[in-house]
Amino acid sequence: MIPESFIQELLNRVDIVDVVDKSVPLKKAGANYSACCPFHNEKSPSFTVSPTKQFYHCFGCGAHGTALGFLMEYQGLSFVEAVHELAKMVGLQVPQVQATPEAREQAHAQQKVAASLQEVLQQAADYYKAELKKSPRAIEYLKARGLSGKVAAKFQIGYAPAGWQNLQSVFPQYENEALNVAGLVVENEQGKRYDRFRDRIMFPIHDQKGQVIGFGGRVINPEDTPKYYNSPETPLFQKGHELYGLFLARRAIRDAGRALVVEGYMDVVALAQYGIEYAVAALGTATTPVHIAKLMRQADEIVFCFDGDNAGRTAAWRAAMNALPALSDGLKLSFLFLPKEHDPDSYVREFGKEKFEAEMKVAMPLSQYILKHLSENNTLQSQEDKVRFLNEAEPILQQIKAPRSAMFLRKKVAELAQLSTDEMHSMLKLPSLNKAPVQARPKFSRTPSSLHKRFCLMLLMQPSFAAAEDLLWVVGQGDETQLLRHTIETCLIHPHSKPVVIMRALETKVDAKLLRDLERDLHLLDETLDMALELTGARHQLKQTYTQQSSNVLLAHLSEKPLSDLTEDEKAMLRTVGFKTLATKLEPK
Ligand code: UTP
Ligand code: MN
Repeated sequence: MIPESFIQELLNRVDIVDVVDKSVPLKKAGANYSACCPFHNEKSPSFTVSPTKQFYHCFGCGAHGTALGFLMEYQGLSFVEAVHELAKMVGLQVPQVQATPEAREQAHAQQKVAASLQEVLQQAADYYKAELKKSPRAIEYLKARGLSGKVAAKFQIGYAPAGWQNLQSVFPQYENEALNVAGLVVENEQGKRYDRFRDRIMFPIHDQKGQVIGFGGRVINPEDTPKYYNSPETPLFQKGHELYGLFLARRAIRDAGRALVVEGYMDVVALAQYGIEYAVAALGTATTPVHIAKLMRQADEIVFCFDGDNAGRTAAWRAAMNALPALSDGLKLSFLFLPKEHDPDSYVREFGKEKFEAEMKVAMPLSQYILKHLSENNTLQSQEDKVRFLNEAEPILQQIKAPRSAMFLRKKVAELAQLSTDEMHSMLKLPSLNKAPVQARPKFSRTPSSLHKRFCLMLLMQPSFAAAEDLLWVVGQGDETQLLRHTIETCLIHPHSKPVVIMRALETKVDAKLLRDLERDLHLLDETLDMALELTGARHQLKQTYTQQSSNVLLAHLSEKPLSDLTEDEKAMLRTVGFKTLATKLEPK
């Protein structure tokens, strides 16, 4: 857990302009900075970054967010990774919740280990790459498999020569513990070290920053086993988290709005060679929910295409099941099943990009796949068949939280079991579905702000002005009233913060949709306005509205009970809303 106060400090401290400019060069345009949007294809810039508000916003595709959000969206980092990255930029230490001296020392030691692993892995990658150039046999192997030199260079493919201790020439300190931890060497029972990868084609695995974190090595000699040998898990490399090719594919995934998940290294490489550059592979493990969540941050559509053989079909079903908890209504998942004798590598070589992409368009949607799988080997004729069907469907339905997708699938399952949805619900234990907002990227639309929102916007821009406000006239329960009240309160706590920080503090208090609308309006706010003047005007009008409302409330109360029975709040309200004559009656005689 990272303390919220730290995140707010961080957002106050960094400048979003610097953060974005590192990846997307910005040009000054009036009060803002602008560029062509990195999140969609465009010719003229509609992506803006506001230094005063500390938000980015695209008027073309609606992408928007904070410096943290930018790192998460653009670099595909997780929240925690993004916080660390930002903290590094401004030289802040992310506080550890239990920051005992031992814990700090341990963290420090871990960082040192990570850095040295990083270094040896990169050195090894450079060495393998150089060795490939020297080995006609390895080059011949890759050529025979149809790989172009260009794509081999792009993926930084290398070759680990035969022999037991070749790495000694790269690392004179062959005893270095980092080599062992990084998985470049193994030790036998006598404690003797030798190279892990020998006579193998080497595929470096990169993290999302493009740093080498591990390798996959393929045999050249078909008699050798195993066919692929991967780096072990290390502090830098967790197979369930990483996807082969993601770093290189990032841009293409964005442009296509789609990610393709395949099984093998060679599939990714061959697809890229044939112009399908948005493919990634899980690393000899099943696709995990972490993988799916990672890809979801980059695209709204994920297509799985595994080998046509039985193992591939099993992997597809496991991927489908692992995706269930990560599903959202804005996400489209589908499955492309290849003929038995093909894998994506052989298929794209035989039929080319166009045909492959055409197949992807008609790939089987997840819902259909689930239903098909459940009704396979089940004729749904007898009562027993239907019971089995429901038993198998139940755990699947339980895991889908996306309300719309879940609703349609439940309906279909009930139909197939020949039950009404009510009957099915009475039988299965299913979570209730909230009307959560669709998580697709919000489309941009220009609607005028309400008076409430305008007032909140002015306060966001100059929170110190909240000090002059009197909360008491803001009464009632409506959404906008809550927003107004919370904004005033938050501004009182953060009188000198940037809008981005106040918005963040509001997140725990105010409805998410309301806040999104407010954020969008914030981007539209004309910064040349005289905020003080605007604020006074909006305040005046609001106060009138509320005074009217308050007096109605009070009058209703007063018709039911005597003045002396008013609560303290009501009395206070009475004093402030201007019922001078009534209020004087409350004063002690
Ligand atoms: P495949 O056996 O389908 O290999 O394994 P492939 O991708 O078609 O490779 P080529 O075309 O024969 O070179 C798919 C993936 O499973 C993992 C690897 O990640 C591989 O890319 N795997 C396979 C292993 O980890 N170890 C193995 O021994 C085999
Ligand atoms: Mn293959």
